[in-house]
Amino acid sequence: MKKLQTFLVLILFAGGLACSKSKNEEKPVSPPDPPVTEEVSLQKKLPFPFGAAVNINLLKNNSAYREVVTTEFNSLTAETAMKTATLHPQQNTFNWTDADYLIEFARQNNKRIHGHTLIWHQSLPSWITNFQGDAAAWEDLFKTHIQTIVSHFKGKVVSWDVVNEAFDDDGTLRNSLWLQKLGPDYIARAFQYAHEADPDALLFYNDYGHEYGPTKRTAILNMVNDLKSRSIPVNGIGLQMHTRYTMADNNLANAINTAAQTGLKVHISELDIAMNPDNNQNLTFTASLADQQAQKYKFIVKTYNAIPKSQQFGITTWNVSDADSWIPGNYNRPDWPLPFDNAYKKKPAYQGILDGAK
Ligand code: XIL
Repeated sequence: MKKLQTFLVLILFAGGLACSKSKNEEKPVSPPDPPVTEEVSLQKKLPFPFGAAVNINLLKNNSAYREVVTTEFNSLTAETAMKTATLHPQQNTFNWTDADYLIEFARQNNKRIHGHTLIWHQSLPSWITNFQGDAAAWEDLFKTHIQTIVSHFKGKVVSWDVVNEAFDDDGTLRNSLWLQKLGPDYIARAFQYAHEADPDALLFYNDYGHEYGPTKRTAILNMVNDLKSRSIPVNGIGLQMHTRYTMADNNLANAINTAAQTGLKVHISELDIAMNPDNNQNLTFTASLADQQAQKYKFIVKTYNAIPKSQQFGITTWNVSDADSWIPGNYNRPDWPLPFDNAYKKKPAYQGILDGAK
């Protein structure tokens, strides 16, 4: 009986709706809402964080750039704002302005910040290259530099490239100022000092050329495994992966998979795919090249997506678009290495990245 009553009530209600609908139809018809299209962005579609290296001036002053950064990426690395020459221009002067702008942008827009970089042979201000002091004074400079910076960003920067590019391509330690003044175990001490200043930060060793072949890669992996075995606080390996469209898939896969075999987190930290590695001043970017680039991006993303989830720290491209890529300026040639073109429009490489994660 109860069921029958409910049934009747529903019939009446539906009838009422039908009546009110026909009444409504007498009113002027307003234009239909546009179809709801699902917003596509790298940060929404990829199953791991997807980031870019950003330039603070462009972020402040170029609205197309800022729009792409805001929409597409959920992890950001400062292209130069957290390097030594910018952050620590004199012994007792730290310049946080640009880096703090990025931190605030990230807080407002819900982005992760990866810190780059504490110890590197480049971006050294003259007060460091000219520094005179004994071993203890150098150690103090080194420790103070690392700990002042890591402490400033504690709780705001989730991870650091603690040491960047410490190896030469032949697998020996680069003869940097740090090696000369501090000895070969400076790498381990850099991680310890950083960890003391922020025990929650994830600490990475970052370098390029893992995809060149086994020589440099093995030296890096051995060093990192040695740190692990000594309980030095290292959490991840950064593969810069400034690569080229002609790089063999097998080399790229070996770089990613051998890094994952350490059990550490793997960050593809500075990805770009050069299309003009032979420095041809007259090259144009054809549809065929764009497609080959898309295939290479797809392969890298697909391979990365197959390593264990817990090790996928993310993929970061080095810069945002072909307009702001460091490659043309650094190598003095035309090039188109990134998934956005000179007008910040999506290239076939963008779809290649999405396809890699399917
Ligand atoms: C580059 C910047 O993009 C350039 O603007 C700057 O002149 C030099 O450094 N490996 C790294 C990055 O770890 O910090 C470098 O960035 C690119 C190579």
